[in-house]
Amino acid sequence: MNGPTQLFIGGKFRDSISGKTFATVNPATEEVLAHVSEAEAADVSAAVEAARKAFVSKSWRGMEARERAKLLWKTGDLIMKNADELARTETMDTGKPIFESRYVDVPFAAETFYYYAGWCSKIEGQTVPVPGNFLNYTLRQPCGVCGIITPWNFPLLMVAWKIAPALACGNTVVIKVAEDAPLTGLRLGQLCLEAGFPDGVVNVVPGFGETAGRALVAHPDVDKISFTGSTAVGKEIMRTAADTLKKVSLELGGKSPNIIFSDADIDAAVGGAFNAIFYGKGEVCVAGSRLFIEDSVHDSVMDALIARAKKLEPGDPLHSKTRLGALVSRNQMERVLGYIEAGKKEGADPVLLGGRAGERGFFVTPTIFDSVGQGMRIAREEIFGPVLSVLRFKDTDDLLEKANGTAYGLAAAVWTRDVGRAHRIAHQLEAGTVWINAYLALSAESPFGGFKQSGFGRELGRQAIDLYTQVKSVWVNME
Ligand code: NAI
Ligand code: MG
Repeated sequence: MNGPTQLFIGGKFRDSISGKTFATVNPATEEVLAHVSEAEAADVSAAVEAARKAFVSKSWRGMEARERAKLLWKTGDLIMKNADELARTETMDTGKPIFESRYVDVPFAAETFYYYAGWCSKIEGQTVPVPGNFLNYTLRQPCGVCGIITPWNFPLLMVAWKIAPALACGNTVVIKVAEDAPLTGLRLGQLCLEAGFPDGVVNVVPGFGETAGRALVAHPDVDKISFTGSTAVGKEIMRTAADTLKKVSLELGGKSPNIIFSDADIDAAVGGAFNAIFYGKGEVCVAGSRLFIEDSVHDSVMDALIARAKKLEPGDPLHSKTRLGALVSRNQMERVLGYIEAGKKEGADPVLLGGRAGERGFFVTPTIFDSVGQGMRIAREEIFGPVLSVLRFKDTDDLLEKANGTAYGLAAAVWTRDVGRAHRIAHQLEAGTVWINAYLALSAESPFGGFKQSGFGRELGRQAIDLYTQVKSVWVNME
């Protein structure tokens, strides 16, 4: 590895104050990829100070919007110029197939910068018709210093989703990248330096959640926290942020229902159900982890799905033909294997029983449970692995009750040729994203986020501008 491994603070790469480092592991080989400087509270404070200084100096928010746009665009270009290298690093740090990192994560990260480059010059206020002899207008101003906390499943992409809009709005950022996959976030910091962002506008502090993450959330000089990760940590972040009343946006877990009606294009639906759970090894917040199949097509859908899943063999994530990589860590692998055991114990029917593949690397083969009961853990809890729960339903009411019957509400999909039913169901599903005859369609232009305990705030699209700005109302007495 020859990318940066030190903290990135105030435009410079440097060791942590304690001198401590932690190892990041290649989950496909279990070898140490790199030793990365470990940020703790004092380092986080230094990064927040650098970000505050950059915010106050107006080196960034005071720059002409069209000039800021050019730096965001240039960052997108630099991501694409280094696409092969970034994709390799991402694959080695996370175990995800190179096919995914090179053709999804990296270009999507670049597109996010291109999209928000356009927004820099379009963040407008309104004039408001108020009573009396007043002119009233609104300004949209940056929040200030934004603390960004990202997960390991899409390490580069999640940083891009958060910092591209935050920067477009004139904020400065301190990014706490995930300890399991910190490398591409650090490299992105370096690319921002190369693009020409003023010192301190972008800072990256790799470290652990309980230390660096918590310190960032608790820091009195951070104005906003944007977090993607587990629901448990999201709750803790809200509690900690309450002390300083920070603005918080959370993108959390999911248990997304994927619904196939008998009138659907069954081949397309089977392909969609397959990708919904096995893309990204199932370590995807919107994974279609609960499949609902209408009775009359249940057997044919299951036969086709099982046949496809059987052929999905794990392989070297760096190989271009690999479609199933290694889970991110031993911890995550054990968690997933634990859920497979739980499913068996709870009485679900393992029509395809997966398990660890090989002894080196954290590879887990696909599992499909049929006859899953609504109360089982594998129907309610986020597994974050290649494990699918298939549930039955009686009629539409029963379906909606079950589909909506979890604490989560991130995404959902419905497969049918009946246009009216498709929209009726879409309107009633409690989810921030609903796909009709599709799964996993996402793009920088369209808002993304959760209902219920999947979080709040919408990333991407014009909605992310609201997340990273605050509105000021200005009154002018015209007497
Ligand atoms: P996590 O929620 O602990 O980690 C996400 C990020 O939060 C990491 O950067 C971590 O360092 C940070 N963090 C952890 N504790 C923190 C704290 N007290 N204060 C501030 N930041 C903190 O997720 P983890 O443990 O890696 O994975 C566990 C489960 O969480 C997974 O099996 C999956 O179910 C879920 N998850 C969901 C994600 C999503 O995209 N919705 C992403 C990652 C995990
Ligand atoms: Mg790693």
